[in-house]
Amino acid sequence: MKTKLSFANPAEVETECLAVVVLDRGEKDRGEDRGEKDKSDVVIDTSANAVREAAAEIIASGEVSGKIFETNMLHRPAKLKAKRLLLIGGGKAKNFSTFELRRMSGTAVRFLKPKGVRSFTFVVPDNLPAEDALKAVVEGGFVGDFDPDTYKSDRKDQKIDTLTVIAKGNQADAGLQRAMNEACIMGESQNFTRELVNEPSNRMTPTMLADRARAMSQEVGLKCEIYGADKIRELKMGAFWSVAQGSDEPPALIVMRHEPAGAPEKPVLGLVGKGITFDTGGISIKPADGMEKMKYDMAGGAAMIGAMRAIALLKPKIKVIGIVCASENMPSGHAQKPGDVQIAMSGKSIEIINTDAEGRLVLADGLHYARQLGCTHLVDAATLTGAVVVALGYVNAGVFANDEQMYERFRQALNRAGEKMWRMPLDEEYKESIRSGIADIVNSGGRWGGAVTAAMFLKEFAEDTPWLHLDIAGTAWMEDNKSWIAKGPSGIAVRSLVEFAKNFADGA
Ligand code: BES
Ligand code: MN
Ligand code: ZN
Repeated sequence: MKTKLSFANPAEVETECLAVVVLDRGEKDRGEDRGEKDKSDVVIDTSANAVREAAAEIIASGEVSGKIFETNMLHRPAKLKAKRLLLIGGGKAKNFSTFELRRMSGTAVRFLKPKGVRSFTFVVPDNLPAEDALKAVVEGGFVGDFDPDTYKSDRKDQKIDTLTVIAKGNQADAGLQRAMNEACIMGESQNFTRELVNEPSNRMTPTMLADRARAMSQEVGLKCEIYGADKIRELKMGAFWSVAQGSDEPPALIVMRHEPAGAPEKPVLGLVGKGITFDTGGISIKPADGMEKMKYDMAGGAAMIGAMRAIALLKPKIKVIGIVCASENMPSGHAQKPGDVQIAMSGKSIEIINTDAEGRLVLADGLHYARQLGCTHLVDAATLTGAVVVALGYVNAGVFANDEQMYERFRQALNRAGEKMWRMPLDEEYKESIRSGIADIVNSGGRWGGAVTAAMFLKEFAEDTPWLHLDIAGTAWMEDNKSWIAKGPSGIAVRSLVEFAKNFADGA
């Protein structure tokens, strides 16, 4: 998808479709009025009079509610040069923010694509900070443009060719030009992650994931090292290897480095991703029902690869090391068994209670390795637990932190990125659940508080390094089509990680 920044008068733009935001300035929620008439008061959020006039009649008709993601399309709108005018609901004006706007832009893309519209123009609403709003429209457009139908033989290529965004200002505005460039990089990197996650496990083995990371690194100028089984054993990554040993597919330890000239020695940000390209559960095998979904168990690793791509292109002056521990989790004659004891790279001994709790094993060594490489701050992302889905459903990812300052910075990055994550606890009391009778810790804390006890396990390997853990099991895969995003891989965490790294460079 190409993108163009324009400062034209919306009425004068020749385009297949002009998309504008409709807001409800009414005082009450629809349907909640106590016998009084609904006071909804629908307005188009633009100062372009001609656009408001073109929509005046349909708005006067009462057909437009302004409800979030509602779409109404007019053909040959009066006195506009555009062929169509698309009104996209943004909900209540008082709650309207770039968060809604991002998804509205995705909604516009997904509404227009199947109609054969290949290019359109989005008018950035007036009442939001210009750069943030522009960024939201472009990022949301990329999110909406992605479809996971790669292997359909009757696949209709329905991509949008060109998204033009009309902003207030002028071509000389460096801030807007920069926001545009950043947003394209964010959007493309998020979709790159989604492509990786979308691939089935026979087409995205650990080796293939490593190849994709290497090719991407070459394109954008990252250093990339890839290690196999020998090196993993040589490094004494006993936890990582215990998962990899059961599979005929060789594992891969992927290390990508962003070390820009002029970056300070410290901080060094480590991004560690779970890259299980298929999780059968191992000997503690999963039920057949729904097991096919476990191809997305490398979504944390893919998020780190996508984030490293964006970081390489945006060039924040901070060292960042991306590490992905890629392996299959298979049952076989070589597979580890419940009761086995493994020695992690850090020296901690782990009693394997459940071979299906494999993500924390590969991450234990990934986190320790990141510290050894000199990372002063760590973030991991993983489709780690079913329990986080029980706790937070498909809406919020779980975020865990052992450092308040780092959490606060990440919270701000989440806001800028428009991603939802909810903080979960890490009280010392939870550690009781991962005590072992025979080793230092067990790899499964059992059923209750499963997302927390998994995080407590990882905390043992982050030790005193400031660290965040993102459990994206419920959010890395969209269960249904939404108006703004296709069913399938979401690319969650990429934008937030990049915002976080960017801000870390500025504020360090
Ligand atoms: N990859 C799964 C977690 C998962 C579950 C992701 C559902 C997405 C959807 C992970 O490796 C796993 O199997 N976790 C176990 C841990 C348990 C054995 C302690 C789980 O959540 O059941
Ligand atoms: Mn598992
Ligand atoms: Zn897993």
